[in-house]
This record gives sequence, C-alpha cells and structure tokens, in this order.
Amino acid sequence: MVKVRRVRKGDLARVREVIESGFADYFERQLGSRPRQVFGGAQYVHHRWLMEPWGCFVAEENDTKIVGASIAIAWGKVGIFGPVAVLTPYQNQKIAQGLLKASQGFFDENKVTLQGVATFYGSPKHLLLYQKFGFKPKGLLAVTTRSLERREPTPPARPSRSAPEIRRLSSLKEAQKKAMLGRLRRITNRIYPGLDLSKEVEIVDSLALGDVLLLERERQVLGFAICHTPGASEAPHGALYVKVLAMDPTRRRPEYFAQLLGAAEEMAVGAGLQRIIAPVYTRYWRAYQALLTAGYQIDMLLVRMKRGKKEDYEREDDFVLDDWR
Ligand SMILES: CC(C)(COP(=O)(O)OP(=O)(O)OC[C@H]1O[C@@H](n2cnc3c(N)ncnc32)[C@H](O)[C@@H]1OP(=O)(O)O)[C@@H](O)C(=O)NCCC(=O)NCCS
Repeated sequence: MVKVRRVRKGDLARVREVIESGFADYFERQLGSRPRQVFGGAQYVHHRWLMEPWGCFVAEENDTKIVGASIAIAWGKVGIFGPVAVLTPYQNQKIAQGLLKASQGFFDENKVTLQGVATFYGSPKHLLLYQKFGFKPKGLLAVTTRSLERREPTPPARPSRSAPEIRRLSSLKEAQKKAMLGRLRRITNRIYPGLDLSKEVEIVDSLALGDVLLLERERQVLGFAICHTPGASEAPHGALYVKVLAMDPTRRRPEYFAQLLGAAEEMAVGAGLQRIIAPVYTRYWRAYQALLTAGYQIDMLLVRMKRGKKEDYEREDDFVLDDWR
C-alpha cells in the first residue's frame, strides 16, 4: 500500500514536515527532549528539490498520505544520499529501503561512481540499513563551529601584486559566472575525478542563499567556499554555514586555506551573524587540525558511509570542507 514516487512541487511543504517530524522524534528518543526547531532553522527541501528534482522521492500510502521522503543529489560522479526520514509509526516496514532503492536508480541514471551518506555512527539501525545497500562505514565527519562574537578584526593585508584576493561570485557578470563554473570544476576534478559542485554554486547564486567566495591570485582560482546564510538555506539561525570549501590540490597552502576561511568569517560578521559552521571530514587531517587550532569546536560527529570506486580518495593534506548531510 506504500508506493515510492518522485516528489512534485505540491509535495514540498509535506516533505519538509515529514523529514522534520522523523528527525525530531529521533532526537527526542536520543536526548530525552524534543528540539523546538529540529534543524535550528536550516532547510533542506525546497532548494534541494529545485537543484535536483529527479533525486527527490516520497513514500506514499494509498496514493494519499506521504509517510516518508528522501533527497539525493549527483555532484557529477559523486552521489550524495540524504536527508531521509520515515514517520515514526511507519518505521521498520522497509519504507526507507524503498526510498534507497529508488535513489540507487537515480544514481545509476547519472552514472555516479561513488555514493555517500553521513549518518549517526552510534545507531546500529542506521549502519545496517546502509550496509544492506553496500555502503561501508568510513571516517568521521566533524561539524565544527566557532563563535564570532569576540572576533578580532583581521589586520589589513600588506598590499602586494601577487597576494591572493577574495572575490564574490555575486559580483561577476553572467558570462563570467559560466566561465567560473568551468574553473571550479577543474579544481574539484582534481579532488575526485568527476566531482562537480556546479549545482550547489548555481543554486546559491540564483536563489541568493548566501554567496560563493573565490580566492584568486593573478587571475588563477586557488580555491572557493560555498557559503549559506540564514533564511531559506541550510544555515541555521545566527550562523554562516560553509557547505563546501575546496582548495586546488595543486596549489594548496595552509595560508590560502586560512585566508579563505577568514573571508567566510568576515562575511558572517558583515551579515550580523554570531557563528560560523564548518563541517570537515576527519580524513582531511590538515584541514581538520587547522580548524581546531583556529579555535573551532566540534558540535556534532557523524560517520561517512560510502560505496563505489576509490572510496578512500581523500588525501590528508588537501584543504577541503564538504558536508554530505
Ligand atoms: C532511519 C530511518 C529513515 C529508517 O527508516 P525505516 O523505514 O524504519 O527503515 P527500514 O524499515 O526500511 O529498514 C530498517 C532496517 O533496520 C533494521 N533495524 C532496526 N533496528 C535495528 C537494530 N537495532 N539493529 C539492527 N537492525 C535494525 C530493521 O529491521 C530493518 O531491516 P529489515 O527490513 O531487514 O528487518 C528512520 O528510522 C527515520 O526516519 N529516522 C529518523 C531520521 C533519520 O535518522 N534519518 C536518517 C539519517 S542518515
């Protein structure tokens, strides 16, 4: 009686409700109290559906009642699954497995070579659910955060012709933005072959969910950061959220990473926000250590599960922050 189908525009409010209710119940069971706002104001449904409508599915009872939902996106050849949720009274009836199966079809259509999910490492149910589909538990994702309330202003950089500079994607003309996407793709392709974040960049730009910071030196892009600010994005109230930050592996330097992260902090302060959230996969050891040294604290830990080619592609010296939630 429960069928899985693709999400339609008219489903979006209900999909959000189902996902928030599933997670609120889960957190209530874990923590003993129900969060007032389950994701602190962060949103995952509307813009993700606009970005990747074919990756969004619902489980519907008797063609009338949506009881489960899942969202997936193909970042080029890397497929990210989640969030997924099933209403509590409908759990343990293989509904999530139906949604996962549909998403596998979507990943196959996109010829994804690596699939990933970030989940609760302490939950046997979550691990076993994904293991059924061939995902293996790997390293931890640390969601780190830093308060910006007493942040010292950054001293002005010494002017130098070759010093890297920050530009915002929003300041570029439309034709320049198109060309920029190609340059960003070349960077991500060096991190994992076929990794393409164009959709994430384009949605932030077209819906003004935040901005994309570009670190450039002599017209070469050294790295970029996709930043969400609160409103209709994945940033919770009061925080700037770094969805992805990637430095070109062929030009990586700790000071470039620090400069780009500092620019994201400045963007947050400029927008009147009190915190910055930077998620980091702990296998990017240098980036992870750099965050801790800079005073970032770990807010939450999740495990990354993966299936596919080159599952352990991350190099510990690459400066990459990427969130698979
Ligand atoms: C995680 C979630 C989506 C799973 O949905 P679901 O419809 O209950 O999952 P399914 O019934 O398809 O599959 C769950 C499997 O785990 C098994 N399972 C349940 N508890 C288990 C446990 N303690 N140990 C091992 N396996 C367990 C079930 O038996 C089932 O396998 P089976 O069908 O072979 O018996 C759902 O619990 C949920 O919405 N949770 C809250 C939100 C959330 O955590 N989302 C996922 C974040 S990554």
